[in-house]
Amino acid sequence: MTDLRIGLIGSGNMAAAMVAGWVTDDPSIAGRIHLTDRGSGRAAALAEAVGGEHGTPQLMSSNRALVDAVDLVLLCVKPTDIEDVLREVSDLVEARHVVASVAAGVQTATMENLLDDDVPVIRLMPNVPVRVNAGTIVYALGRASSELVGPTLELIARLGATVELQERLFDAATALSGSGPAFFGLVVEAFEDAAIVSGLSAPIGRELAVTTMVGTAEMLTRGNLSCLDLRRMVTSPGGTAATGLAHLERSAVRGSIIDAVVAARDRARELG
Ligand SMILES: NC(=O)c1ccc[n+]([C@@H]2O[C@H](COP(=O)([O-])OP(=O)(O)OC[C@H]3O[C@@H](n4cnc5c(N)ncnc54)[C@H](OP(=O)(O)O)[C@@H]3O)[C@@H](O)[C@H]2O)c1
Repeated sequence: MTDLRIGLIGSGNMAAAMVAGWVTDDPSIAGRIHLTDRGSGRAAALAEAVGGEHGTPQLMSSNRALVDAVDLVLLCVKPTDIEDVLREVSDLVEARHVVASVAAGVQTATMENLLDDDVPVIRLMPNVPVRVNAGTIVYALGRASSELVGPTLELIARLGATVELQERLFDAATALSGSGPAFFGLVVEAFEDAAIVSGLSAPIGRELAVTTMVGTAEMLTRGNLSCLDLRRMVTSPGGTAATGLAHLERSAVRGSIIDAVVAARDRARELG
């Protein structure tokens, strides 16, 4: 079954990013999407933003009405709201559904304890580049399965790279790929500042910084290079890259990044 009816409980930042990615990939998906919020109007705003001639997401009057109408129940609420939402709908959730959650720190077992044993559960950790179909989505499967789990994973894969991971490693993944766009964003911002200090205009600095980041990523993935190989390729003895890298190493950039990711992993653990 490829035409999953998709229900998102919660229509905030992550829901909007995932819906935008799906609709960009295939505008007709919009007509299969069902949305709720807690009364803010964000579901209606999201439906309006992505709706069009190929279809518009349906606003559901309640989470219970949504569960009744869909195959995939995607929980896009804050981690602290997951249990309340599941309690609200659990008597309607059946083995014909798949329940997936993007909530940081909420384990499959926590969700499974509130659902019947035969309901398939998937824990996801997406990041915001899902909005442009360039996300990284880490996932773990729960104890039950069904013929809808495969199509659900195919749907998720339309948003970017998917990586199956043991749940005990999710906090580390949350720190690296979940929070990662904020870290890389800070680095690019610093390069933009550096461009201006070096005499380039802000727009040119931004273009050079972003295209260099994308090109570097392409070399590491499509070029199948190690980071060391890439660095050696650019760093001639006594040259500009060597001089710049020596500054970065003396400023402990590498150690700061390691500390930041480990601190973010520990924070994910505290919040979970
Ligand atoms: N943002 C990220 O980069 C990111 C990355 C990975 C994972 N996540 C996960 O994504 C989840 C959502 O984060 P977010 O940043 O999208 O949060 P958000 O912008 O605050 O959105 C939360 C949404 O949940 C809705 N909601 C809360 N309780 C509800 C209920 N009982 N019934 C229906 N809707 C309800 C809210 O409704 P109202 O609009 O009416 O308030 C809001 O639309 C979190 O669990 C987070 O861990 C986020």
